Amino acid sequence: MFLPKIHIRQLRCLPKQLFLRQFCKCASQVPPEVLEELEQGFEDMKECDSKSLLKKHLTKERFDKLKDKTTPTYNSTLLDCIRSGLKNPDSGVGIYAPDPEAYSTFSDIFDPIIEDYHGGFKKTSVHPPTCFGFGSDFPNLDPDNLYIVSTRVRCGRSIKDFPFNPCLSKCDYNVLDSIITDALLNLSGEYSGTYFPLCGMEKDKQQELIDSHLLFKEGDRFLKDAKATRYWPTGRGIYINDNRNFLVWVNEEDHVRIISMEKGGNLGAVYERLILGENQLSKQLEFSRDKRLGYLTFCPTNLGTSLRASVHMRLPSLADDKAKLDKMAAKYNLQVRGTRGEHTDAEDGVYDISNKRRMGLTEYEAIQEMYKGIRALIDHECQEAAKACKK
Ligand code: ARG
Repeated sequence: MFLPKIHIRQLRCLPKQLFLRQFCKCASQVPPEVLEELEQGFEDMKECDSKSLLKKHLTKERFDKLKDKTTPTYNSTLLDCIRSGLKNPDSGVGIYAPDPEAYSTFSDIFDPIIEDYHGGFKKTSVHPPTCFGFGSDFPNLDPDNLYIVSTRVRCGRSIKDFPFNPCLSKCDYNVLDSIITDALLNLSGEYSGTYFPLCGMEKDKQQELIDSHLLFKEGDRFLKDAKATRYWPTGRGIYINDNRNFLVWVNEEDHVRIISMEKGGNLGAVYERLILGENQLSKQLEFSRDKRLGYLTFCPTNLGTSLRASVHMRLPSLADDKAKLDKMAAKYNLQVRGTRGEHTDAEDGVYDISNKRRMGLTEYEAIQEMYKGIRALIDHECQEAAKACKK
């Protein structure tokens, strides 16, 4: 008899329906009400004024080809991928993968979006093997502390054999939480710290951590509409090392987000801490990696290296010339966000600027790209400041 491979951890939490499906391998059908919601959502999207990559790439042909498909193991539909984008026309991207198989079942829409977002990662491209290189190659970007408030590098990881948020049961969240926290509590040296589960966390403590840019915010409508916030706050939490410069988010957008951050512009030190922390964790946790796509994450913008290196910085001159800022960001493949992250505004002229591409290049190249871009922004600011002095 053919028995599909199911990890024992998953079996413990497998909902009945999924369990039957795994063993019956019966052909799944998209329920009529899902099809109806898809058709209506697609019509509405055509009418609305959205700049999302979803709207740009989901042609009628692609839509018709994909609307009846489901992923083999978790039965996810096209609606599970695009619900957030349909409900939020202000999405920049508008699509998530409910489970790892969605990237292949719905490749006709994921591939063009991935290619567009990651600057040319084609459907025939293969993501390179991990190569972090050395943090010491990146000197302090702003030794005089004139522009950069803080520097942060993060990567996302998924635990092998588990699907992504929309397919996780309440029990899965608890199992993931315990697998991940077991590993975290084994971290040593500068990585040793404390795990704070969101369940039972005082509101004041939560707000203090959010305001210090340590903890993720709650109630992200893009994630909520992707069904990524179910059973909240079950299984969610944050690990913080004693120096408060190495953090791990558990079960927010991805199973694991590994974060290194500190005040100022010492990118090399921040990156080095991330590399060694990721290394310690990867010895204890098995992360999902795809031969073509690299590290697997819930959002296609994070595939590949899943690496996002950012600074919080003041741009006194470029803040007054948004067109120039956008032009420079495009030239250096940078992404500009507000102070509290994406979908927020800049507060007191402080922007969050990072590498945009995470796929089709190594970790080292992604950091290099960000380094060069931030250097160019600082050089521009210095020149403008010098011109202003001469006047
Ligand atoms: N779905 C949101 C959008 O399309 C977020 C995309 C990228 N950000 C992320 N946190 N995955 O705007």
